[in-house]
Amino acid sequence: MNKEKGQEVVQLHQQYVMQSWGKSGGPVMPVERAEGIYFWDYDGNKYADMSSLLVCSNLGHSLPEIVEAIKAQTEKMCFMAPAYASEPKGQLAKKLVEVAGKEHFARVFFTNGGAESNENAIKMARMVTGRTKIFSCYRSYHGATLGASNASGDWRRFASEIGGANGFVKFMNPHMYRDGYERGVDDERVTKKALHDLEDQLCYEGPQNVAAILMESIVGANGVILPPKGYMEGIRALCDKYGILMICDEVMSGFFRTGKWFAWQNFDFVPDMITFAKGVTCGYVQLGGVIVSHRIAKYFEENVLQCGLTYSGHTLACAAGVATLKYYEEHHIGEHVAEMHEIVNDFLQKMVEKHACVGEARCIGLFACLEIVKNKQTREPMQAYNTPGPVMPWIFAELRKRGFSTFGRENNVEVCPPLTITKEELEEYLPILDEVLTLVDEKFTD
Ligand SMILES: Cc1ncc(COP(=O)(O)O)c(C=O)c1O
Repeated sequence: MNKEKGQEVVQLHQQYVMQSWGKSGGPVMPVERAEGIYFWDYDGNKYADMSSLLVCSNLGHSLPEIVEAIKAQTEKMCFMAPAYASEPKGQLAKKLVEVAGKEHFARVFFTNGGAESNENAIKMARMVTGRTKIFSCYRSYHGATLGASNASGDWRRFASEIGGANGFVKFMNPHMYRDGYERGVDDERVTKKALHDLEDQLCYEGPQNVAAILMESIVGANGVILPPKGYMEGIRALCDKYGILMICDEVMSGFFRTGKWFAWQNFDFVPDMITFAKGVTCGYVQLGGVIVSHRIAKYFEENVLQCGLTYSGHTLACAAGVATLKYYEEHHIGEHVAEMHEIVNDFLQKMVEKHACVGEARCIGLFACLEIVKNKQTREPMQAYNTPGPVMPWIFAELRKRGFSTFGRENNVEVCPPLTITKEELEEYLPILDEVLTLVDEKFTD
């Protein structure tokens, strides 16, 4: 019976749904339910969600505290337009400002997701500075709407560049492993060179024309790229020198993914705007937003904010957000992440030692990825950039067959389980990685 239902769900999807980032009508997995760190297909197969579904379900699935908060809100009011005040909206904005730091931040503009958050942050930066250009990194992703997509660095922006949007300038952010350096040894010179090159580029573009530098605090989908020491602080210094606003995209890295409320809090600088989504509600109801500094908040007390969305501050979404933030705090998720980090990081570093196909493991909090290589000595990637090959899809399929569900771009296998994952669950599922990597060593490395 369930099997038939599963086939029906697949058939409907294949016939009527336009598949994002893929060709419509292709193979798709029907999911019936999800709970904790798991989800199940219609055949009753269980999968551990080792990527928190696009690094989103930080607190796992069907958490009663969030579900109940949503249910309770539906009894009172599901939706109220942005012009009106509602309790969940006000409470959530207050809490977000507090966890970002009241001394630096003052207000929140709510959106429906990550791309819209970046889109609106870009508009605000342009309004506040009266400048046009937005600098962002090649190794980045900021969303798929027109502006956010033009700000994104990886190849997913190409379709949005047809016709384009004006004023988007890219610079190359350092990637210690891919650029051939050693972490902890070469940081200083890599940082110095990268900042020097960026300053040159800013000068050639005219810093007086640059509204903002938009960066992921830690690049996520492009491979959990940990910046070299001093790099982010150096970007802040350049922004200050030239009157440029610094926007940190925390859509993926926020809400304890790195062990802190926000990933930038691992460094020694403060941005002017923080864009967020995903972990604010763990996707239970979609929500995103921009947290802005006192200076920007003041500007929009004196000038009209020409940004608006019918669903800005959606009541149900904000109620989910209030419950989610409460859970992070009351269950000391930051401390739990620090403990689980030790287990995941130790394991992944062992995978680097053991496997010919693992070039590097990067892990901060429970934000981790393995860099898969064809040749460890030369660091030759398993697949050349933007050149899809069979090996990475094969790895993800083999993992999934064994109940380990995750994703990755290019040569990365992301390991970003729900932050609530237990030691026992990690001990059960991490060995699956080891097993599949052994097969990769045998089949695909030089
Ligand atoms: C860093 C970052 N910014 C923005 C986005 C876009 O978010 P959304 O898909 O909610 O629009 C993503 C999505 O993965 C992301 O990782």
